[in-house]
Amino acid sequence: MSLASIDRERMLGRIRELGEVGREDGRLTRLAGSDADRAGRDLLVSWLEGAGLEVRIDRIGNIFGIWTEEPIADEAPVLLGSHIDTVINAGIYDGCYGVIAGLEVIETLKRNGFAPSRPIAVAAFTNEEGVRYAPDMMGSLVHAGGLSVEAALASVGTDGSVLGDELSRIGYAGDIEPGFLRPKAYVELHIEQGPVLEREGLRIGAVETLQGISWQRVTISGVANHAGTTPMSMRSDAGQAAAEVMVFLRQRAMASDIPVVATIGCMAFEPNAINVIPSLASFTVDLRSPDEQRLREEEAALSTFLDALALRDGLGVSVERLARFQPVTFDPAIVALIEQAAGRRGLSSRRMTSGAGHDAQMIARIAPSAMIFVPSRDGISHNPREHTDADDLVAGADILLDVVRDLSA
Ligand code: GLV
Ligand code: MN
Ligand code: MN
Repeated sequence: MSLASIDRERMLGRIRELGEVGREDGRLTRLAGSDADRAGRDLLVSWLEGAGLEVRIDRIGNIFGIWTEEPIADEAPVLLGSHIDTVINAGIYDGCYGVIAGLEVIETLKRNGFAPSRPIAVAAFTNEEGVRYAPDMMGSLVHAGGLSVEAALASVGTDGSVLGDELSRIGYAGDIEPGFLRPKAYVELHIEQGPVLEREGLRIGAVETLQGISWQRVTISGVANHAGTTPMSMRSDAGQAAAEVMVFLRQRAMASDIPVVATIGCMAFEPNAINVIPSLASFTVDLRSPDEQRLREEEAALSTFLDALALRDGLGVSVERLARFQPVTFDPAIVALIEQAAGRRGLSSRRMTSGAGHDAQMIARIAPSAMIFVPSRDGISHNPREHTDADDLVAGADILLDVVRDLSA
């Protein structure tokens, strides 16, 4: 069996080039629907067209590059992909690696004269990060039929913008109905974004499960009053309550016998003044666990705690659900192919769970899916220090190449 390799310099060069798009004052931010997103999409589309792929864009702005030829055009394709939107002050690998490597795999197969039995396509899904518009993994969720395209397009961003308007403005509101492409299988290559592979000295992760995600926005209302004159026992302090929620979530997660992570990543006070007791605290809660039952228990515990705080301090509480996804088990046959491919190339590997959310979690609803992970230095991601060694990036893409060949032979 020949063990071909992808074009190392082309793939690494593209990752670096896309990583400069949307960089201002040294910080890379390419939020969904922004001008930077448009520039990144334009660059990707130029690469897809340059590779001779058929480029199609659906109504939620998902971009597909499809390698299809007669007589296989009617077969269900093998789909690769990820996303090219980023968080605020991001690294260059999260998502972009999977899209660029997917394209690279298709170009390599074409170059090598491989004759697939079905089309092979690469997708860049809209708004995976969910930083500007909730929920996250939006484009792939719409593709999988889990959210209507109308509801997704009507999503109002953290800056008051509407996603549909922004996609039209940047020229990426396509006219194809989402879900038009029903894959035979989906494989997503991604950096691990956590410490496991590096800590264990392993090269490849065969991702078999992905933990559940719960996103909520909590708004606590109290009474603004003078910070100097109001006795501690007479306050309705929304800020104090928010801080108690933060500590409560951390203590519960730390004490859990099943893995649970809890994060309050956004918090705002009103009136936000040094000498005024906050009349309002609004914050996000990101709860995750591979165990659905435990995730429900954590949500219920938070709700009970909020009720108790409200009663104790005379506060108002409202909770808005922003996203809720159950844990996912990936396709065992594809996971096994990933392990076998690693073995054939002499790369150490292990099965693992993904801590991050990914488009694969959504596409798994409609097609057998799995993910390949490569190590992240110091387990850092959603941070400009995000880094994966070039050899690991190439190794992961080569495994993707092998798995795609197996799935489309
Ligand atoms: C997406 O990156 C997520 O896991 O929040
Ligand atoms: Mn990602
Ligand atoms: Mn991310």
